[in-house]
Amino acid sequence: MKILIKNISKIYTPVSSKPYGYIKEYNDVSLLIINSKIESVFQKGDTVPETDEIIEAGKAIVLPGFVDAHTHPVFWKTREDEFIMRIQGKSYEEIARAGGGIRNSVRLFRAADKQQIKKVTRKRINKFLEYGTTTIEAKSGYGLSTEDEIKSLEIIDELNREQPLDLVPTFLGAHEVPDEYQDRRTEYIDLVVNEMLPKVAQRKLAKFCDVFCEEGVFTVEESSKILKAAKSFGIQARVHADELKGTGGAEMAADISAVTADHLVKVSDEGIRKMADAGVIPVLLPGTTFFLMKDDYAPARKMIEAGCRVAVSTDFNPGSSTTQNMQLMWSIAALKLKMLPAELLWASTLIPAESLGLQNEIGSIEPGKSADLILLDIPNLNYLPYHYGINHVLMTIKNGRVVFKKNF
Ligand code: NIG
Ligand code: FE
Repeated sequence: MKILIKNISKIYTPVSSKPYGYIKEYNDVSLLIINSKIESVFQKGDTVPETDEIIEAGKAIVLPGFVDAHTHPVFWKTREDEFIMRIQGKSYEEIARAGGGIRNSVRLFRAADKQQIKKVTRKRINKFLEYGTTTIEAKSGYGLSTEDEIKSLEIIDELNREQPLDLVPTFLGAHEVPDEYQDRRTEYIDLVVNEMLPKVAQRKLAKFCDVFCEEGVFTVEESSKILKAAKSFGIQARVHADELKGTGGAEMAADISAVTADHLVKVSDEGIRKMADAGVIPVLLPGTTFFLMKDDYAPARKMIEAGCRVAVSTDFNPGSSTTQNMQLMWSIAALKLKMLPAELLWASTLIPAESLGLQNEIGSIEPGKSADLILLDIPNLNYLPYHYGINHVLMTIKNGRVVFKKNF
């Protein structure tokens, strides 16, 4: 199957062999896709081959589809009541301590039927495609029992097979200590290590394991224990680190060679240096800082200057960040993390792909990669974060197939 996308005003893409922030730009070109893979770019005047299909880009701009490296899409009910409580002055941490937050979602998740959760999750997933995201990392973490964590990972697995968005599964059994283990937390950690992880590994339900390493949730020592156990099963580590308090999560991530450390609002200078040395990818989630009404944002510039290859993701979840919109993350990251469009393009395509071990398949527009592409109604790359809060995506193409199209 050969498809030609013609009349493209510009293509912008990171290039695998070039340094972080380098962008290749093409002007007035066509793009040839063969059997769902990117084949080549044709300049104006080149003879283009016969194809089975032509997609008229109408002078749109083409980027690689966004890769969102941190999401929690498998939940049952939304939590707008807690949102109102936060507006009225209660903090996210206070609500969590009082049994709301993640534990609230866990109670609801356990009581709900798998097929119903799958149905609402599928709807949420369509929104990712509509806003230009073609691959997500998807965490479990609202079950917190062996049975319910498996239920969550099965939903991710089934949805991955049944619809076009690619989902990369992460086991997050250590998202919180559930209600019934509040007085015996070490028993819960033992359950995660000795029962959940072996089952998840045996059924190959997760590529990654994550832990919410945070004051009042899991300590650095507990997190390290869980992530090391995961690694012994061949499941790589990602970690929620140094978000609300700086506890040394980034340092721990470097010590155990985690693939990513995420959030990092309160990361120490030492943590940044260690992540840079160990090649840990910081996954920054500025939408969460914004949505939790916090004043301090992750020190992205320091991390980039230290040599870290920074990713930016949505953290899509029902409590602390409710958007699937990566374009909005570009605007918040530009304004609050002081990241520039060229850095943001890397941070939302090739670097998150690398964090998922998919850098040879997706994340840039290079021959041989999957044709995961978005067409945008913008005049240039700087315009994307500038005109903020709206959806610029005209068309999303996943593996060479049109999976979302706006009338234009
Ligand atoms: O990344 N930090 C832990 N997990 C999510 C919040 C989940 C929730 O509030 O439901 C986060 O912010
Ligand atoms: Fe998260």
